[in-house]
Amino acid sequence: MAVHRVGAEARLDSSEWMGREVVTKQRVVKGYRHPALDRSLQTSRIKNEARLMLEARRAGIAVPVIYSVDYAGNRIVMQEIKGVRVKDALNDLPEPEAEEVCRKIGEIAARLHMSDIVHGDLTTSNMLLEGDRIVLIDFSLGSKTSELEDKGVDMHLLEEAFHSAHHARGGLYDIVKGSYTSAYPQGDEVLRKVKEIEKRGRYTRKE
Ligand SMILES: Nc1ncnc2c1ncn2[C@@H]1O[C@H](COP(=O)(O)OP(=O)(O)OP(=O)(O)O)[C@@H](O)[C@H]1O
Ligand SMILES: [Mg+2]
Repeated sequence: MAVHRVGAEARLDSSEWMGREVVTKQRVVKGYRHPALDRSLQTSRIKNEARLMLEARRAGIAVPVIYSVDYAGNRIVMQEIKGVRVKDALNDLPEPEAEEVCRKIGEIAARLHMSDIVHGDLTTSNMLLEGDRIVLIDFSLGSKTSELEDKGVDMHLLEEAFHSAHHARGGLYDIVKGSYTSAYPQGDEVLRKVKEIEKRGRYTRKE
């Protein structure tokens, strides 16, 4: 399936590059900021995204291969993953496969956090299922940090994504949490943070 998507921040297209099937992710220039400032902001975002993809790969997580980072053109040229978003696939998978996917999601989150990588938008929209592997994409909001709070926000977002997109398959998120905590020694502490974050959220909403 060829990619063509124009989002608020980025535009994605499938194309061919040096004989390879690729996806180019081009940051959309907002135009309302100072042009020079805008450019340096875009450049630092692209750098951040590419750097985190490489760090994630080093941590043993499947990510698209980066072929080129074009600062002048605000774009990353990467391997096209021939897969479907986990968000679109998970609800229709037979139970054992769905559970296996969730175990892998928990492992991915654990590997990220063990390497102090916070994804920033850890949802099933940013995971592609290719055969039986899960490829993680969209590191544009990510950062390198050892803060439990930031890791907690990642897990909170993931939980919300499961509750909204996969609520029909109750219990799946428990599998994610189980594999996360068994692979990551500090996982329980992060999940305690998530509870705090959720309490704070409820409290602020009441005010
Ligand atoms: N390497 C890839 N191979 C195949 N499809 C991809 C690839 N990268 C992105 N896509 C598709 O494009 C969609 C959008 O990509 P991505 O999540 O990186 O952008 P975004 O959410 O618009 O970005 P941002 O959060 O940076 O504004 C993905 O959900 C996926 O369907
Ligand atoms: Mg995305």
